[in-house]
Amino acid sequence: MKTLDDLLGEGVSGRRVLVRADLNVPFDKADPSRISDDGRIRAVLPTLITLRDAGARVIVCSHLGRPKGAPDPKYTLAPVATRLGELLGNPVVFAEDTVGPSAKAAADALLDGQVLLLENLRFNAGETSKDDAERGAFADELAGLAEFYVDDAFGAVHRKHASVYDVAARLPHYAGGLVLTEVEVLRKVTETPEQPYVVVLGGSKVSDKLAVIQALLPKVDKLLVGGGMCFTFLKAQGHEVGKSLLEAEMIDTCADLLAQAQGRIVLPVDVVAATAFDANAEHDVVSADAIPADRLGLDIGPASVALFAEAIGSAKTVFWNGPMGVFELAPFAAGTRGVAEAITKIDGFSVVGGGDSAAAVRTLGIDESGFGHISTGGGASLEYLEGKSLPGVSALES
Ligand code: 3PG
Ligand code: MG
Repeated sequence: MKTLDDLLGEGVSGRRVLVRADLNVPFDKADPSRISDDGRIRAVLPTLITLRDAGARVIVCSHLGRPKGAPDPKYTLAPVATRLGELLGNPVVFAEDTVGPSAKAAADALLDGQVLLLENLRFNAGETSKDDAERGAFADELAGLAEFYVDDAFGAVHRKHASVYDVAARLPHYAGGLVLTEVEVLRKVTETPEQPYVVVLGGSKVSDKLAVIQALLPKVDKLLVGGGMCFTFLKAQGHEVGKSLLEAEMIDTCADLLAQAQGRIVLPVDVVAATAFDANAEHDVVSADAIPADRLGLDIGPASVALFAEAIGSAKTVFWNGPMGVFELAPFAAGTRGVAEAITKIDGFSVVGGGDSAAAVRTLGIDESGFGHISTGGGASLEYLEGKSLPGVSALES
C-alpha cells in the first residue's frame, strides 16, 4: 500500500489530489443544523493539512447519510464544509454538486494549498450502484477532477462504492494516515491480541453482530453482551424479557452461541426496565431474570456494570463496539458510561470500534486519552474483525 509519504515524494505542489474522507457525522436531533460530534472531521485533518501544506490543490469528497442517489437538501455537506473550514483555520470552498459544473469550475479555480469539498457523493446513483459499469462511469468523472487519489475514509472502506473502490483503479492511489493507523491497530487486535482478550458488544441487533460474534468466539476469553441485543440472549436462556427489543428469529442462534461459548459469553444480571422508550418514563433496576411483562429494558443495571468491569479489569486487550443502553437519554446512560470508564482503566490496549461508540464516548464526556485507539469506523472495523476483505483496502493494495 502506498502512503502519503510516497505521494509527497511525487511532488504535489500545484497538483490536484482527490481525498475520499468519511465526513458522515451525526447531527443534533433537536437542532438538525448542528453537528453533534465532529470526530470524523477532526480525524482526517492531519491528511488534509499535510497535503495543503505541501501546496496541493485538495479536493475532498464524502458521503453523508443514505440519500437515494439524487440530491436531497436534508443530506447536504454544506454544514460540514463550514466546520471543516473552521478546523483548518481557512474557509473551505464548497461545490454544490459532486462532478457537475459547480465541482468542475471549483476544481479548475483551486489555488495551491486550497481545500474544496464536493457535495454528497450519494447524490449520484453511480456512487453506490451494484452495476460495475454505472459505478465505473461515475468513478471516471470523479477521477477526471484530479491527478492523484488518497483514501482516508476508513469508515467507508467496507463499501464497494465508486469513490472507495473504482476510483483507485483510475488514478495513482495512496492510503491516508487515518486508514493506515486504523488498519494497523485492527490487524494487531485480530492477529496478535495480548491475552486475556475481552470483547464488549452492544447495539440493538444480534443479527448485525452475528458474523463478528462467530469470528471472535474462538479467540476471546470473555464476550460481554449488553445493549438491545442482550434481550434475545436472555430469552434464549429461558428468561422473559417483557416489551424489550427481541429478535425472535435469532433466539435459537443465540442458544447455539451460548452452548458453544461454554460460559465465555457474559450477559447482564440486571437491567434498567422502563414503562416506555422515554427519558421521563417510570423505570427501575430489576433482575435480568425478572423483567416485568409491561416493561422494556433500556440499559444494563449497576450489578451488570460491576460484573462487566471486573472482566474488563483483568484484560490485556479490550475491543468495544456498541452502547450498553440508550445513552442518549440520561436515565439510561449509566451502563455505557460505566463500561467505558472501566475500559479506560485497564492496564493493556483498548480499541473503541465504531462511529456510534466513539460518539458515545465524546457525548458522555469520557476522557478519550484513556483508550488505546478510537476507531472512526463501525461497520468497517467489525467487518475487519470478521476477517472479510475490505474493498477499499484491497483497492489500495492492488
Ligand atoms: C458509517 O457511518 O458507518 C459509515 O460512514 C458508512 O456509512 P454507511 O453505513 O451508510 O455506508
Ligand atoms: Mg453505520
